[in-house]
Amino acid sequence: MATERTLSIIKPDATRRNLTGKINAKFEEAGLRIIAQKRIHLTKAQAGKFYEVHKERPFYDELCEFMASAPVVVQVLEGEGAIVKNREVMGATNPADAAPGTIRAEFAQSVGENSVHGSDAPETAAAEIAFYFSGLELVG
Ligand code: CDP
Ligand code: MG
Repeated sequence: MATERTLSIIKPDATRRNLTGKINAKFEEAGLRIIAQKRIHLTKAQAGKFYEVHKERPFYDELCEFMASAPVVVQVLEGEGAIVKNREVMGATNPADAAPGTIRAEFAQSVGENSVHGSDAPETAAAEIAFYFSGLELVG
């Protein structure tokens, strides 16, 4: 399998509870390298742009409010099959369905406040990385 890059976000519920290091340890234990990382505070408009694909969904407004409610840590993870691997480490969207040992099983508070975002395909990974990072910030 090829080396890939994927976009990860440690969400406000997790930064608020000081869980950045514990979540990063899960990525590193799974063989994912954090090759770029920064802590930012999104505006609601920026969160809305990032989650535009969900704009017709009933949870969109609440999701954007939540993502702008506290800082997030945006990061690029690199590794063999990183996109699927990260989704496995994250666990299911709803923590009630997340497999034991996954980030969402251990840390998520609800289906909305579920601690992490991860790209779901190569095309979305490329677009989402470019949304937050310039080429100069991706040093490998
Ligand atoms: O994050 P993931 O790709 O697993 O799920 P998604 O279906 O792409 O939804 C994006 C985000 O919207 C989720 O991670 C949740 O934060 C939120 N969401 C929600 O608040 N209520 C739902 N019923 C589904 C998703
Ligand atoms: Mg998604």
